[in-house]
Amino acid sequence: MSARFSRIVILTGAGVSAESGVPTFRASDGLWENHRIEDVASPEGFARDPALVQHFYNLRRAALKTVQPNPAHLAIARLQREFDGEVTLITQNVDDLHERGGSPEVLHMHGELLSALCLQCGQRSSWDGGLGADSICRKCRHDGTLRPDIVWFGEMPYLQDECLEALHRADLFLAIGTSGRVYPAAGFVAIAKRAGAHAIEFNLEPSDVSRDFDEHISGPAGVEVPKWVDGLLKDSNRQDPRP
Ligand code: OAD
Repeated sequence: MSARFSRIVILTGAGVSAESGVPTFRASDGLWENHRIEDVASPEGFARDPALVQHFYNLRRAALKTVQPNPAHLAIARLQREFDGEVTLITQNVDDLHERGGSPEVLHMHGELLSALCLQCGQRSSWDGGLGADSICRKCRHDGTLRPDIVWFGEMPYLQDECLEALHRADLFLAIGTSGRVYPAAGFVAIAKRAGAHAIEFNLEPSDVSRDFDEHISGPAGVEVPKWVDGLLKDSNRQDPRP
């Protein structure tokens, strides 16, 4: 099969981290850890109650230290390292489990928990402790201007040029553990398909954009993704025997 493909784009969502113990967004009626998503994931929510929002992400950031990458993260990293072609990994996740699973490059289109954004100077800086009104921006030295570096509803996702460029070149597109409810990521499959890519969805259940995919692999990502990656890499070694 792999002889057919040389440029893979992978889009991951919350489902890829679910087996690591990171809760997905839509598992509990629009509530995220007992908060309405719009209260903790919008600029308006932050303006209304910055302390609540900072506290919410401080807990999420601290919780990262209690979780580990699962076999799906490891298999994606292995594909990035071993596939004899291009593999672009785009994630909507704000955790660092792809990096800790060994992925050499990750496009975090929705930002990162381990980063802070300064509202004064726009600098993004790595941050692994708590954020609050007394946090000081390392670049402009203002205090009280740092917020979580997360793309909230109504804000522009990061790295869209890089994502689109990879999607336009892709001949294989994989979506793993994403509900297809949030754009622009939900539209990536259509873009890749228009560019001529074959598209495979890995999920426990059909997503909102399932009909756009050519193939569906149903089951937990931690089981199905390693199996699939193994098959692809074995196949590519068979087709391309090395001395
Ligand atoms: P969702 O919570 O909307 O969807 C998670 C998807 O993963 C669902 O389709 C589940 O069926 C699937 N799933 C759950 N466990 C799985 C498993 N073990 N194996 C395979 N699939 C599994 O998460 P996202 O699609 O990532 O945005 O949500 C997209 C964006 O909405 C997020 O990035 C976030 C949120 O609001 C921002 O924070 C800006």
